[in-house]
Amino acid sequence: MHKRWKRLLHETSVAPRAPARRKVRAYLPESRCFVASCSGAVVAACVVKPLGAGAHELMSIAVRPGGQQAGHGTALLRWVIRDLERRGASRLKVGTARSATNSPSLAFYQRQGFRVMGTDHDFFVRNYPQPLFEGGIRHFDMLRLARKLTNAIE
Ligand SMILES: CC(C)(COP(=O)(O)OP(=O)(O)OC[C@H]1O[C@@H](n2cnc3c(N)ncnc32)[C@H](O)[C@@H]1OP(=O)(O)O)[C@@H](O)C(=O)NCCC(=O)NCCS
Repeated sequence: MHKRWKRLLHETSVAPRAPARRKVRAYLPESRCFVASCSGAVVAACVVKPLGAGAHELMSIAVRPGGQQAGHGTALLRWVIRDLERRGASRLKVGTARSATNSPSLAFYQRQGFRVMGTDHDFFVRNYPQPLFEGGIRHFDMLRLARKLTNAIE
């Protein structure tokens, strides 16, 4: 099971695969991993890293290709949000590529209450050795989003 969700996160990471795979491996030891399964098969996985002071970051979320847009990603994200709230966490952050081709991911997060906090300019230039393209557009900047968790004491 362990290998299967790791493969799922790798397969659905932004190309090129090799640096993305290294990045996922680097943050796994300090993170918690969640999976959604259907009839024993992993359909979605995500990784959440504690940042301290009640804040957490959603480092990766991926639904198996072929199973996307069927509600699995939303169900998993909602479950994770509820779990963090039960544990008294205050804030969940996420980063997503700031690009016209990435608007479905932005809609996915905004539907779950995430608000745009800012832009990390040249994130993909600084963090990836090769240029990353999606739909013919190069990724340069990371959009930073965050969602307050309801049990937060601030
Ligand atoms: C992004 C992702 C996790 C969403 O999970 P999902 O199970 O496919 O999404 P759900 O079915 O729960 O929700 C669908 C909603 O998400 C958004 N969405 C996500 N991916 C989309 C896509 N490729 N095309 C259109 N809408 C998409 C839409 O808002 C959609 O709502 P709608 O159906 O009413 O238009 C999943 O598509 C995925 O693994 N994508 C590849 C990896 C990735 O991009 N991860 C996020 C990196 S920031």
